[in-house]
Amino acid sequence: MFSATQLIKRDHKKAEDMFNKFEKTKKAEAKKRIADQACQELEIHAALEEEIFYPAVRKTLGEEDMLEEAKQEHQQAKEIISEVKRMSAEDDHLEEKFAELVECIQHHVEEEEGELLPKVEESDMDLVNIGEQMTERREELMQQRQKTQRAQKKSTRKPKKAPRRRKSGRAA
Ligand SMILES: [Fe+2]
Ligand SMILES: [Fe+2]
Repeated sequence: MFSATQLIKRDHKKAEDMFNKFEKTKKAEAKKRIADQACQELEIHAALEEEIFYPAVRKTLGEEDMLEEAKQEHQQAKEIISEVKRMSAEDDHLEEKFAELVECIQHHVEEEEGELLPKVEESDMDLVNIGEQMTERREELMQQRQKTQRAQKKSTRKPKKAPRRRKSGRAA
């Protein structure tokens, strides 16, 4: 069982690992794959914080200014993420754009781990319960994404002739 702050720090660490992997990888195709994966992870992380963690902090601790700033930084990250996602592996600016994202995230993580999370950990918030909600929501979001990805793949595939259905007596 992980507490909300443990889950958040674990995600941050995972992002940092992916940033390093991007840096070390040479091939453009592989770089793009890592970039896309990092974007997906970050989008889910941001959603979990915005939907569950930040509202819980707001409710118990207030901290309006800190949360407002966090939200703005998320917005900034999302704009860069959508640009990274649109870029192809061959795009000369992919590395530059990704570096921008890394910088944005690192700054945000520093603030979260340096200011927000310590305050939360000192409080009497039920972090295990919030962690559970986040884990559940992550599952849902992952499933939704897989579904859309499958649908996208299907729609880009060559249309196959639909198999003829035999009429059966039973209702569908
Ligand atoms: Fe975070
Ligand atoms: Fe955040």
